[in-house]
Amino acid sequence: MPLGQRAGDKSDSRYCGVEVLDFPADEGLPAVLNHSLASSFDFILAPLVDPNYRPTPGAVLPVSASDLVLGPAQWSNHVVGKISEWIDLDAEDERVRVDSELTLKQEIAWASHLSLQACVLPAPRRSSCGNYARVVNQILQGLTNMHLWLRLPLEKCEPMDDDLDKVKNINKTSKMVDSWELWNSFRLLCDHSSQLCVALDISSTLPSINSLGRWFGEPVRAAILQTNAFLTNGKGYPCLSKRHQKLLTGFFNHSVQAILSGRSNHNVSPVSGGVLSGDENHIEGAPVRHALSPYLDYIAYLYQKMDPLPEQERFEINYRDFLQSPLQPLMDNLEAQTYETFEKDVVKYTQYQRAVAKALIDRVSDDAVSTTRTVVMVVGAGRGPLVRASLQAAEETGRKLKVYAVEKNPNAVITLHSLIKLEGWENLVTVISSDMRCWDAPEKADILVSELLGSFGDNELSPECLDGAQRFLKPDGISIPSSYTSFIQPITASKLHNDIKAHKDIAHFETAYVVKLHRIATLAPPQQVFTFTHPNFSPNASNQRYTKLQFEIRPDTGSCLVHGFAGYFDSVLYKDVHLGIEPNTATPNMFSWFPIFFPLRKPIYVPDGSPIEVHFWRCCAPTKVWYEWAVTTPTLSPIHNSNGRSYWVGL
Ligand SMILES: C[S@@+](CC[C@H](N)C(=O)[O-])C[C@H]1O[C@@H](n2cnc3c(N)ncnc32)[C@H](O)[C@@H]1O
Repeated sequence: MPLGQRAGDKSDSRYCGVEVLDFPADEGLPAVLNHSLASSFDFILAPLVDPNYRPTPGAVLPVSASDLVLGPAQWSNHVVGKISEWIDLDAEDERVRVDSELTLKQEIAWASHLSLQACVLPAPRRSSCGNYARVVNQILQGLTNMHLWLRLPLEKCEPMDDDLDKVKNINKTSKMVDSWELWNSFRLLCDHSSQLCVALDISSTLPSINSLGRWFGEPVRAAILQTNAFLTNGKGYPCLSKRHQKLLTGFFNHSVQAILSGRSNHNVSPVSGGVLSGDENHIEGAPVRHALSPYLDYIAYLYQKMDPLPEQERFEINYRDFLQSPLQPLMDNLEAQTYETFEKDVVKYTQYQRAVAKALIDRVSDDAVSTTRTVVMVVGAGRGPLVRASLQAAEETGRKLKVYAVEKNPNAVITLHSLIKLEGWENLVTVISSDMRCWDAPEKADILVSELLGSFGDNELSPECLDGAQRFLKPDGISIPSSYTSFIQPITASKLHNDIKAHKDIAHFETAYVVKLHRIATLAPPQQVFTFTHPNFSPNASNQRYTKLQFEIRPDTGSCLVHGFAGYFDSVLYKDVHLGIEPNTATPNMFSWFPIFFPLRKPIYVPDGSPIEVHFWRCCAPTKVWYEWAVTTPTLSPIHNSNGRSYWVGL
């Protein structure tokens, strides 16, 4: 039974599982499952094979239940397989390695036969796990639907087994192994397989906030909460520390599901005959509460206490981490549906109205109101929302206007004509069906209003269009926007990387995407890339740009992997009126733009303490504009999108 109702949340985080600690001997698995489901857990994480089994020629695999005892839907919806924990593929002892490989393959084959959705692989037993990764990689090649979740402790762990000898002379803290490093080695060896995910064991201590943040960009599927992670509240019930609560709600927000594990340390559930507490496999004398039910109640309480998803977020939920090609409003003609989406963004037009109102007041003093008519040219007028915003600003400030609405999309021009009739604006607005770069204006404008901005500011070619349009702006005229700046920040985004990789070509790795970023980790604060200011009457003005940036990864993060750069913009419309999506200054409740993502062909490993140096170029040719980008520290990437061979914006 899901943890509860959270408006709009249809993700896996609604489900909570429980780990079966002891092997359910004598085909006891169905009873354990029924007991867990009856206690409101949604699934069990259960051993599939007797842990005492070692491969013997001709032996029948001692499984925890025949495939006949559960229906196919029960197997796939309610059981996650737990691969035997004794398996040690990097053991010194060859016999152990060989037995481990055989058993792992047998157990996975059995789990595939049962159509399980996932199996949890035991944590690597040592920091060098090349052979383990090799065998898992072989298995991944043959899997169709099933996912493998590599189990890892969230907190740094002591090195295991043989590793201890090698490091015994080093102090304790430096001995600790960062489990993210283990994960990173494993997934690199498995070539970023999209079927290889993570299950994190959470115990009482947690690493630093910044190092935890890295996991939000990784394919974490489950947070395995150990009962020893829980504290006891005043009434004797289990509860979590504030930091654990925050971490868990972070995971819920990233579609990670919880699994409870361990023996009960809180004897608060009504237990019949005293047999249940500490015995998660108890099956007799039903109905009896599961020993971990009080922990489940608490997890459900935390889930239900989360704020409902805001309406806009619910609307956009299907766009999360979905890669879209940026619009090309100059080269292509936008469709009615696209204009309709723009026009719903009230906040954007309110900001424009505020900017135009301020510009009108500055332009026309109160004494001159009755004698002065301001010429406003809305360039790229679409279906007219900025014409409306300008007229409302005039009404609000008592200024008189003459408006030219310039639009190159002939379909939008049809709408503009009917809008003018409908609104009775015939004496106020003139529609011009033309590209602003070649229109021969009959008079000069006081104010040029435009919205040609992409997620990265200049990526829809606002600079080139406004350079063409400023010919008909008076020398002291105002451009709204008066400037815009792009920003980037390095991110971990394994899902986006895998989605791009699925295309199996370089071109998709050299393309920028518009994407509602969700399962990502931001590694350093955003920095400015390119700024454009309008009007720009300088004779040497150029729209080519080059910027080199150095990012310092947030302290305490540890090492990390950069899959690419998230991009944003901020625009000064007029004086203090701005509009943008740069996370630190983003205009609240505005939804016209998702961020942009510039991927890297090969993700870059950034060792703890190293900066990232990245270069961005904006290149211009007579028919197109494009970006090139490259990383030079800590390692060199190729220069992406050379000559705009994979991605460009048409002029
Ligand atoms: C991002 S849309 C904005 C439309 C409208 N202002 C709004 O806010 O809904 C940009 C508009 O500018 C138009 N446009 C782009 N480049 C243009 C150009 N060079 N000349 C005229 N119109 C242009 C496009 O056809 C499109 O309608």
